[in-house]
Amino acid sequence: MGDQEWRSISKNRGGDSVLIDDKVLLQKANDVRKNAYCPYSKFPVGAAILCSDGTIFTGVNVENAVNGLSICAERTAIFKAVSEGHHDFVKLAVTCKGDHCQPCGACRQVIYEHAPNIEIMMGNPEGTFVRTTIRDLLPEAFSL
Ligand code: THU
Repeated sequence: MGDQEWRSISKNRGGDSVLIDDKVLLQKANDVRKNAYCPYSKFPVGAAILCSDGTIFTGVNVENAVNGLSICAERTAIFKAVSEGHHDFVKLAVTCKGDHCQPCGACRQVIYEHAPNIEIMMGNPEGTFVRTTIRDLLPEAFSL
């Protein structure tokens, strides 16, 4: 794979093109795992979403003693970004221990809602990852 394919082109607020290295996005997802609040599962997950202006928002899973109130890392990152006025997403990295971190069904629906064309990198702390897209992960998705 050529150098260019490892990067995403975004535009910063001044309109200049900026190249964001995929490995930087994966590293940010990995680094933020330390902030996961997961006393029940003890399974930290980290996510990092790249916006078209080059801004990156991270997220972790935040669990709760009441079943059903926990939120995944991917949704935390997306909700943080949307709350800050960002709506144009380029790429999402998600990492957790194991093979490669595959977003849950609920997150796939939320990702599709906000970023139906987004690329996704499913990684692990060792730094290996698999590339996919939300369209591949959620074929024939529901939308209004
Ligand atoms: N989890 C995520 O945050 N993202 C995923 O892609 C998979 C699962 C969280 C939910 C829960 O806090 C923990 O991982 C174990 O399921």
